[in-house]
Amino acid sequence: MCGIVAYLGSKEALPVLIKGLKRLEYRGYDSAGIVIQNNHRRLNVFKRKGKVSDLEAMVRDKDISGHMGIGHTRWATHGKPNDINAHPHTSSNHRLALVHNGIIENYAALKKALEKRGHKFESETDTEVLVHLIEELQQSEQLSLAEAVRMALTKVVGAYAIVVMDTQEPDTLVAARKSSPLVIGIDNDEFIIASDATPIVEYTNKVVYLDDDQLAIIQSGELQLLSIENEVVPLDIREIDMELERIEKGGYDFFMKKEIHEQPTTVRDSMSGRINAAEGWAKLGGLEEHINRFLQAKRITLIGCGTSWHSALIGEYLIEQLARIPVEVEYGSEFRYRNPVITGDDVAVAISQSGETADTMAAIKLAKQMGAFTYGIVNVVGSSIARITDAGSYIHAGPEIGVASTKAFTGQVSILAIMALQLAERNGSISKTRFRTLLAELENIPAKIQQMLEVDASIAYIANEFRNATNFLYLGRGVNFPVALEGALKLKEISYIHAEGYPAAEMKHGPIALIDENMPVVLIATNNKAYEKVLSNVQEVKARGGRIIAVVTEGETQITKLANYAINVPRTDDFFAPLLSVIPLQLLSYHIAVLRGCNVDQPRNLAKSVTVE
Ligand code: G6P
Repeated sequence: MCGIVAYLGSKEALPVLIKGLKRLEYRGYDSAGIVIQNNHRRLNVFKRKGKVSDLEAMVRDKDISGHMGIGHTRWATHGKPNDINAHPHTSSNHRLALVHNGIIENYAALKKALEKRGHKFESETDTEVLVHLIEELQQSEQLSLAEAVRMALTKVVGAYAIVVMDTQEPDTLVAARKSSPLVIGIDNDEFIIASDATPIVEYTNKVVYLDDDQLAIIQSGELQLLSIENEVVPLDIREIDMELERIEKGGYDFFMKKEIHEQPTTVRDSMSGRINAAEGWAKLGGLEEHINRFLQAKRITLIGCGTSWHSALIGEYLIEQLARIPVEVEYGSEFRYRNPVITGDDVAVAISQSGETADTMAAIKLAKQMGAFTYGIVNVVGSSIARITDAGSYIHAGPEIGVASTKAFTGQVSILAIMALQLAERNGSISKTRFRTLLAELENIPAKIQQMLEVDASIAYIANEFRNATNFLYLGRGVNFPVALEGALKLKEISYIHAEGYPAAEMKHGPIALIDENMPVVLIATNNKAYEKVLSNVQEVKARGGRIIAVVTEGETQITKLANYAINVPRTDDFFAPLLSVIPLQLLSYHIAVLRGCNVDQPRNLAKSVTVE
């Protein structure tokens, strides 16, 4: 949801900014812009509708030297994507340039008041209000840039990550955050500010995470943090560990393809040091420290959005079945606004790849306020949810760049599986033998995902037959129902084909009316328990002329015979079937999207990290 990168140091700013924006493009890609302050204290602003590559083409032959600059890649909230609404925005006197990620909720009132005082606005954005407000405060109160930014922010309601520069204060960058992330990379007297660490890791592994209601002031080669109340905040410099190759495409056409194929490794990484079948233990460190809060909880609420919500549904199944603790699953956005009943006996678990999703963040904050013990299952190290929760487990999937989540999903499910097993073992709801059998099977999953990926070419073939479909139905039962939802979401997101996920047995209560020879039905039928029932569903679809792509356990014959296409999944325990059955669905959506000429990594209207509510 908008990416920010800013540079101040001895290098030329332009290449650092362009490269940084490319890394952040997953956050928004409808327009992009940069501003560089040259040695004559002039702002060179270039911005345009389109992708970062369009901006790059625009600046290619221009002389834009300077050692300080700010860049932005936008996901429009206020004002449509066009050249004017693109960031940076500048003040009337052309002294200030500012980029923003978030929403200024009271912008209309602020704008009206500023217009009354003679300010003229060029764009339809909420952001432009901020730059005018800072300008006005600077002029009327003779304030420094940092002080004017701080004062302006006290008048603002909403969410923001901003970076500002002023031609009258060369070698100064001021940044601030509330609810939208900012990380500052430090290498001696060189600084990179960014929405996440991906533009930074190439230059330094030393970072400072800005917290809500804090300002960062970089001046004369020094970084200082201030609270919005004007108190100095001590610097907490952390070392991050992110390998550069993990944020490059590495020979794949799209990040999504790379990320799908990384899953044997990422799932192994998510489990590494956390389970051991031979020794018979499962241990998420964060959970172990607070295990009694979980074991004594009257309920565990799993909160997420999008794909992470689907992981939560699988988590509900696993925790309830194995550990026999009641679980609720909530959308972050719904939980917050319905006055939930939460007490000190509750545990609330936020599941989030980015750790920045505004709705999930707001929900977990509310749960915390109401007394719940909070836990984060998060991928991005140092992200807001990771920092606000009482404890948590990282997924260790490495940076996920493709907008459609793949490896984060399997990472989340792996963590939830370990959580379920750990809780089950500790509260005695599982026998020792069963516990060890399940641990051994979980350890086998990465190898089985590897085996699963061998279907890639045959899925590409199936995709070709279905590429022109306009609707898809995905059906699954039990733990495979969330997989059906996830398969449908993947297809919608990247190929723009309407798709719905349904519990297989619910089909006859509505969706069956849609089935004809034009409606492909993807049936996830690896379950053992409900096998006979699912077989009946296949017959029902078949009787109405529907075309079936079935995902079945290897060796299965009956559904295989009836289906138009059958994809074999290696045998595993039902509990872990989603970790395998989701792989062909990820690949199917990927191939269909590629065949339809869609930009798989940057689907229209979406953003990877949704930091607005
Ligand atoms: C966006 C992304 C989805 C993601 C969801 C939740 O909608 O496009 O892929 O599942 O946000 O994101 P989170 O980072 O909280 O998992």
